[in-house]
Amino acid sequence: MSVKSSLLKTLELNKGCFISGQELARMLDVSRTSVWKAAKSLQDEGYLIEAVTNKGYMLAEESRILSEEAISGFLDPGIGSVSITIMDNTDSTNNEAKRILMDEPGFGRVIFAEEQSSGKGRLGRSFSSPPGDSLYASFILKPLLDVNDSLLITVGASVAVARAVEKIGAADDESFEPEIKWVNDVYLDNKKICGILTEAVSDLESGQIQSLILGIGINVNTDIKHYPKEIRDRIGIVEISPGQRNRFAAILINEVFHMQDEIMDYRMNGLDEPSFMDEYRQRSMVLGKGIYVIKNDEKYEAKAIDINNHGGLLVKYKTGETELLNTGEVSIRFDS
Ligand code: BTN
Repeated sequence: MSVKSSLLKTLELNKGCFISGQELARMLDVSRTSVWKAAKSLQDEGYLIEAVTNKGYMLAEESRILSEEAISGFLDPGIGSVSITIMDNTDSTNNEAKRILMDEPGFGRVIFAEEQSSGKGRLGRSFSSPPGDSLYASFILKPLLDVNDSLLITVGASVAVARAVEKIGAADDESFEPEIKWVNDVYLDNKKICGILTEAVSDLESGQIQSLILGIGINVNTDIKHYPKEIRDRIGIVEISPGQRNRFAAILINEVFHMQDEIMDYRMNGLDEPSFMDEYRQRSMVLGKGIYVIKNDEKYEAKAIDINNHGGLLVKYKTGETELLNTGEVSIRFDS
């Protein structure tokens, strides 16, 4: 790791506290001049580093730039090695993940972007991705599930996001209670704060699914004015202290990889369902409620009765007929 990276990591872990140049030089095993040069270069990149004679260096509490160094300081060692890429701007982190996969096949990668120019949503929609504190991330994961179970990864991802939102709230002395709207929209106070888009990448020759790309976009601290007018009343924003952004990104990574372990456990040990399913049902904002099922632009009034082991939603229509919804081609709404 370069001096700059080590310095950033150390300052991130001690955010808001001064550490003397001498102490930093000792911790990083370099000269004080190297510390000074690295701090200067980080300042030039926009990091809010204060350098004060007789006090040393401090990264300001409100520093919010995503960095691999800062994120890795909050990662749970139990999740194994994760490669983190951070981009200022890209069309879509899911597309970026696909491009990376073409050059370098592999798993355990996550790509963040500060902003997306063509963020992709479900059902071919776009996903508004303004710059600010929001998290736009794509994870390259192993294809652990067969086709019948493919819904489980998106279901699990929504639980991972809900857990991450709850945890970052707790770290900030807030008690957030995220809920999930089938299949995988995460809501806070009845507004959608997150979208999830899963894409499979297959090997053209074998036809086998090679990797899964799990794209997650969470709206954080962004002024509602930055979203298109027509969606403003539906968008929710997670409000956190700006200085907690890297921690939030790390918690999200931790939770996604824990969720992947839960799927692995389910597969390897022949369980009835992954361990997150009960939590998914508990967090569901549709179970037991009256909803509208939207299929091919038609709207049907129904009641959400159950969520099965594979993440399918059992609904009962006004006519008394029941149907198990399994596909991403169906969406549900509460209002008419
Ligand atoms: C939806 O709600 O329709 C799904 C939105 C998914 C958005 C995320 S943001 C990161 C990743 N990159 C994309 O282009 N889309 C996903």
